[in-house]
Amino acid sequence: MKTLLITRPIADPVIAQARTLFDVTVNEDGALDVAQAAQALADYDAILPTLGDQFTDQAFESAAEKLRCGMLGNFGVGYNHIDTVAAKAAGVQVSNTPDVLTDATADIGMTLLLATARRAGEGERMLRSGEWGGFGPKDLLGTHVTGKTVGIVGMGRIGQAVARRCHFGFGMDVVFYNRSAKEVGFPARQLASLGTVMEQADFVVVTTPGGAETTKLIDAVALEAMKPTGIFINISRGEVVDETALITALQTGQIAGAGLDVYEAEPHVPEALRELDNCVLLPHLGSATVETRQAMGQMALDNIIAWSNGDAPPQAV
Ligand code: DGY
Repeated sequence: MKTLLITRPIADPVIAQARTLFDVTVNEDGALDVAQAAQALADYDAILPTLGDQFTDQAFESAAEKLRCGMLGNFGVGYNHIDTVAAKAAGVQVSNTPDVLTDATADIGMTLLLATARRAGEGERMLRSGEWGGFGPKDLLGTHVTGKTVGIVGMGRIGQAVARRCHFGFGMDVVFYNRSAKEVGFPARQLASLGTVMEQADFVVVTTPGGAETTKLIDAVALEAMKPTGIFINISRGEVVDETALITALQTGQIAGAGLDVYEAEPHVPEALRELDNCVLLPHLGSATVETRQAMGQMALDNIIAWSNGDAPPQAV
């Protein structure tokens, strides 16, 4: 029986199925650092890793001749924690879990957009602290969402799902920035530059993949282009945004607010960000529904099973 390491507890039925096919170890001790990832590559035939596990080039280098693993069936659509070039060079296949989390992640984008625009975080904090004095016609006035312009940065599956919700649900105009030309089946205008999208949008929603090509794509210059009433949402990866520049933009009122699900050095969230009232901060909840997390686990396992049977993993990256 092949050995399989599942690097974090996932849905019970998926683990139960995995146990019928593999000799399974479930790691209960949190994300693997580089040394632990290298050890795992040496110890297991297959690994089901996830966000935070450090499968860097150094991990592959350290495993080197001891390498036993042939497959990393990643739990998550984003796989920027795996050096896929090093994996390929080492002969390790990698897969991810696209599609199954698109709707859940787009829903978190809308949760953040609405919560930030309508100051839901501030309101909830006020109520829970016993400071609410009753309805006030001028209290906690937010920004209207319906009919405004949303700017999507990265019009992939999740970007399109957010755009559809904005257009069909909230009558919003959709503009977007995408590196390649993109046709979508609903009204949305692709603009020539990121700067123009940042300038025109009332709400900017970042939905690009992470990785070297998008690191700090949203920098101080991009943020400066936003309207002072603009609201910035990030549901992609923390490193896509220069977090220090974002904090400055929020502190100085250069932009009106931010809704964030992801951070540069998760789980660390800078105190300066946590102190700001004009942002809503979630702990990377994009795909966090029971149904979605089960589907992600199943898809990751199905890819490992395909590899184990000598077939091409259907979601190979
Ligand atoms: C992903 O799948 O990449 C998400 O960020 C984790 O839910």
